Parts: sequence; structure tokens; C-alpha cells
Amino acid sequence: MKYTALQGTKDLLPEDAPKWRYIEDKIREILSLYNYKEIRTPVFEQTELFKRSIGDDTDIVQKEMYTFQDQGKRSLTLRPEGTASIVRAFIEHNLGEKSPLVKLFYFGQMFRQERPQKGRLREFNQYGVEVIGSLDPLVDAEVIELGVRINKAFGLEGLKLYLNSIGCKDCRPAHRDAFNKFVKDKIEKFCQDCQLRLLRNPLRIFDCKNEKCIEALKDAPMILDFLDAKCKNHFKKVREYLDQMGIEYILDGRLVRGLDYYTRTTFEIKSEALGAQDTLIGGGRYDLLVSELGGKDTPAIGFAAGIERLFLVLEMQKKFPLEDERLDVFIAPLGEKEKSLGLKLLKDLREKGLRCDLDFLERSLKSQLKEADRQKAKKVLIIGEDELKKGKGTLRDMETKEQKEIEFEKLVQELIRA
Ligand code: HAM
Repeated sequence: MKYTALQGTKDLLPEDAPKWRYIEDKIREILSLYNYKEIRTPVFEQTELFKRSIGDDTDIVQKEMYTFQDQGKRSLTLRPEGTASIVRAFIEHNLGEKSPLVKLFYFGQMFRQERPQKGRLREFNQYGVEVIGSLDPLVDAEVIELGVRINKAFGLEGLKLYLNSIGCKDCRPAHRDAFNKFVKDKIEKFCQDCQLRLLRNPLRIFDCKNEKCIEALKDAPMILDFLDAKCKNHFKKVREYLDQMGIEYILDGRLVRGLDYYTRTTFEIKSEALGAQDTLIGGGRYDLLVSELGGKDTPAIGFAAGIERLFLVLEMQKKFPLEDERLDVFIAPLGEKEKSLGLKLLKDLREKGLRCDLDFLERSLKSQLKEADRQKAKKVLIIGEDELKKGKGTLRDMETKEQKEIEFEKLVQELIRA
């Protein structure tokens, strides 16, 4: 039996792990500048939480959730996204009472049973932010600017920001009427799913990936043109703030996003370096979700980004810095007693903060030097019979190939100075 990683899942191998860490560190650094605090929530939750927040008519809930029954016959789901869990935690721990505006960020694995392809996995990682407690369009602008800023900090090129407003509950009936009129005589042009969505949730049709539906929607009335005065004003302000910060965007009336909890502002940042799965960041306002999940009426906004996609673009655009993971010292012992001394020196050097290793495979000196080269060690400490007798090791500089003798007692001091 040969075991392989499941379709749509991926191992992160040691050669890529430093790059992943680089991504996380940089994002954390920026989030801290923006005063966001970290939150971690469980990987699985009650199925109902996701159904209720993401929406029954979405692809995620209908087709993609990893839902299972545990031994206690409870229906549980591996989280397909982070927002629902964070709102659940916000309500459960009364975070709103501790602070009127809560700015959170998270990193974590998400699970969706989608058809795997480049940039689309079944287990993937997101980082995201959620700002809970303010209706001010200023927050929308801050959150969007943060998304732009993070990508910019990585030096990414060829990105585009798409912006829309899908209004609130009050704006939807007028749009629905106009939309129903529009589709009346072309209903058969839409896919089966969309024909059902038509009655229940017409906005969802704008998120359908079926070519037929995209084509049929060409001249459809957009929700953006049906905003009531308050939503219109909110969106105007968001755009003004973005303009003030010099953030360019493309207005996209079709951007309704794939989850049902959104109200007003929606946005995405796409990369032209990626193929079909080109969205790096997706987010928007969700002013009703906290109350829908049983909390007080609390407006909120956030976004999430796929880390694997960011990784892909960084790799393609060669934006990963060359990590210096060189060893300071490689210890090459040539016998039993030498090994034991080597181990002691290894411990001392590491305690002083030097990155070092020793040959654990009893190889010949030649092979050990080769290994030290492969590990890009700066120096090699050779400990042979002679060295042991003299109480001095041979320290070889791997760049200049120069060798010198050094008393074991003074080795740590000498290497720290170097
Ligand atoms: P989403 O658009 O479903 O939004 O996902 C956000 C991002 O996660 C996508 O833009 C993409 O980069 C990444 N992503 C999604 N699915 C996959 C996949 N199968 N494989 C790889 N990457 C993927 C949300 O999840 C919302 N919770 C965002 C949000 C937060 N809205 C408000 N707050």
C-alpha cells in the first residue's frame, strides 16, 4: 500500500517552510502596525453555524463543506472560512463589551471540497482580519488599504482592486423586481442552479461561474444602481477615502462575493499572475451577521486571503528574499572520543546562539567536508586523534579554505567574536 497526500491537500516541505514563515512574519508585522490582535478559533464547529452565516444557497454550503457526524451524533463541519467562527467567538466571549471596536486577525487552515486546480485546494490557509463594531466608511477604507498595503509590502506586481456595494436589505426588493423583469423571458438561458436561485436569492446568480449565466447576465440590472440613500452615501464616502489615500480601484457591479452575509461594501484584490483562481483577497461588510448569530446589532467588515495563492505569486515573481540558513559551524569528529567532545562543544555553541550541527553518520573527513559544503557551513571544526591529544581543534574556513588550530577551551569565545 502506497500512501499519498489526499487530492487537494499539500505538504509543506523543509525547503519551502522558511518562505512560508517569511510570509507569516511580514503579515504579522504589518498587522501589528495597524493595531490588530490575534484570535485563534477551533478548526471545527457546529454545522449550523456555517449554514446560518454563509447561507444555504451558496456553493460552499451546498457543495463544499466537510461535514461529518461525531460519535455523539452531532453534525460538525471543518471550517470552510474564518468569519463565522470569529463572530461566534466575539458573541460568546462578549468581546464587544470589553472594547467598542474590536480589530482581530487570524491565520489558519480552511477546508472546502472544491475541484482542485492551481491555486485551489481542499485544505488551504488563510490569513484574515475582522473589524467589529463600527459602521463608519472610514473603517472600510482602512481595511481595504490594509489589504493593498500587505500585498505591496511583498513587492507584488500586476494587482487590481475591485470594488462594489451590494447595499442592505432595504435596497434588495427594488433590485429583485428589476432583475425578475430582466430574466422573465430568458430564464432558460441560466443554469439549473441559477433558475432555483432566482426565486430564493437572485444576487447569488451574479456569483455563478457558469459561462452561460455570465453571458446571460450581461445587461442585467446591478444592485449598485439600486442603493438607497444611506448605502449610496456610505459607498460615496468609502470611495472618497480611497481616493484620498491614492488607492486605485475598478468599480465592479457584479462583485457580490460567494458568501451570503455581505452588506454594502464588497471588494477583491486579484493578481494577473494567477490563472482562473486569481483572487488573492476577498472581503466586505457584514453588518447583520452578529445579530443574526444571536449577538447585539453590531456592524462589521473584514477580508481573508489565501496564503497558497500569495505563495504562488511570490514564487512566480521571484519576490522571496534569499534566506540565510547557513550553519555557523559544522563539527566533524573522527572517532568515538572525538564525537563525545563534539557533542559537548555543539551544546556550548548552541547555548551561545550559534547555528551548528555535527556529523551523526560516522562519515570520512572527506564526506563530512562535503556535507558541510552542502549545508553552506561557514566553518568546520575538525576533531581527530591529533587534535584530541593537543587539546586543539582544527578550524577550517569554508570560504577561504584556511585552517588554523584553536584550543577547545577558547573555541566558543573565538567563534562568537567571528
Ligand atoms: P472567500 O472569498 O471565500 O472569503 O476566501 C478568501 C480567499 O481565500 C480567496 O480570495 C482565496 O484567496 C482564498 N481561497 C478561498 N478558497 C480557496 C481554495 N479552495 N484554495 C485556496 N485558496 C482559497 C472568505 O473566506 C471570507 N471569510 C472573507 C471575509 C472575511 N469576509 C469578511 N471577512
